[in-house]
Amino acid sequence: MPVTPHVAALLLLCSVRAWPVFKTWLSVDSDGGDNGLTYYNRTSRVLNFFPVPMSVECLSDDGRRTGVCLNVYECRIQGGRASGPCALGFGVCCVFTATCGNDINNNMTYFISPTFPALSRDAAACSVQIKKIDSSISQLRLDFVHFNLGQPNRRTGVCDSDVFIMSGGVTQDLKLCGQNSGQHVYYDVENVNDSVNVIMNLTDNNLFRMWEIKVTQIEFNQRAPAGCRQYYQGSNGIIQTMNFADNGRHLADQDYTICMRQEEGMCSIAYEPCDENSFKIGPPVLSDPGSGDGVAGDSRECDDKIVMPCDSEELIMPEASGPGVCDLLHCGSSFCNQGEMPCRIESSVTPFNIRVQFGPGAREESPEDNLGMCLRYEQLPCYE
Ligand SMILES: *[C@@H]1O[C@H](CO)[C@@H](O)[C@H](O)[C@H]1NC(C)=O
Ligand SMILES: *[C@@H]1O[C@H](CO)[C@@H](O)[C@H](O)[C@H]1NC(C)=O
Ligand SMILES: *[C@@H]1O[C@H](CO)[C@@H](O)[C@H](O)[C@H]1NC(C)=O
Ligand SMILES: *[C@@H]1O[C@H](CO)[C@@H](O)[C@H](O)[C@H]1NC(C)=O
Repeated sequence: MPVTPHVAALLLLCSVRAWPVFKTWLSVDSDGGDNGLTYYNRTSRVLNFFPVPMSVECLSDDGRRTGVCLNVYECRIQGGRASGPCALGFGVCCVFTATCGNDINNNMTYFISPTFPALSRDAAACSVQIKKIDSSISQLRLDFVHFNLGQPNRRTGVCDSDVFIMSGGVTQDLKLCGQNSGQHVYYDVENVNDSVNVIMNLTDNNLFRMWEIKVTQIEFNQRAPAGCRQYYQGSNGIIQTMNFADNGRHLADQDYTICMRQEEGMCSIAYEPCDENSFKIGPPVLSDPGSGDGVAGDSRECDDKIVMPCDSEELIMPEASGPGVCDLLHCGSSFCNQGEMPCRIESSVTPFNIRVQFGPGAREESPEDNLGMCLRYEQLPCYE
């Protein structure tokens, strides 16, 4: 008998062992790995086949986390937690978490502090190993849903008490501390065979911390452009240096690029400080801080700086420009030329990038002069 599509569908249905009915998902409470097992045991017939393609994202039942839609069996085998139904109740939204001492073997795992969501207080060295799920994985993206660690040294910006360290990639180790909730980073793992280490080295017993970091594995064709530690999509948004926070201070020893994807139909980008207090990178510079001549005048004045590509003659000071050089340095207490209001800088140099270069923290300076940077950006349409 020829197998018509109809018959094929029937055969397929027969070969799939029965699905649990939808209402059982509602009876599994959200905390429920064990309930899932109980249910699994109660049913005589068990699903072990799930026709949803791999890597279909879903939202956990509390709406807070992203998981992968799997059948309940796969979710258990892989060590995830069933967090509500997906695929019309045929699967579970399987959320993966890892904490101190665990390995991360999945796409999309949340690395959480040991007592999350309660605050952790104990000094500890806590680490996870992130293993590439496939050799084609090109980057890891870490989203800091919560990132509350101890502050750096208030006068130098060095993370000398609490520190988050990411190492094992080809690029330099990444070191952060303080308040970075809402920030993200990309970490290049293209030439990493094995795994990358994330360490929370917490050395003070009298601090409260909490973190929840979403780790996503990114294939080559979805990666952020080379060299971008942060990559923002959308025609407008806010960028901040790490530990830009109340009572924060920018971190020492940072050298990275923040990239804004050039959106369709957009030809230039404008930056403005988030408010009058949102550009504090070192004490006020005597020479013009917004003009880029800090280094040319006195290199000490611009140990810590923001570098922007420039294309506009008016923005370039003669001292700062050598042959083919048109980098604009920004440091001191204002983003634009001192006193210039409103403060707004436009550039049509692509790609849209800002480089953050903060020195090793060898000098002691007041934290008030070193809050860091918060800028709003807006891409501007091309003119015909
Ligand atoms: C059912 O539960 C028992 C005890 O809880 C366990 O030993 C057994 O492995 C379970 N069966 C399956 C198929 O998971
Ligand atoms: C990991 O998950 C993200 C988000 O769903 C997805 O874009 C990416 O392709 C996944 N990576 C792999 C290797 O499947
Ligand atoms: C990764 O594995 C390949 C093949 O096994 C090997 O040739 C290469 O040297 C390894 N690279 C690193 C950085 O270990
Ligand atoms: C963690 O901190 C301790 C104490 O400051 C230090 O000795 C150790 O080298 C640190 N570990 C890492 C991996 O930085």
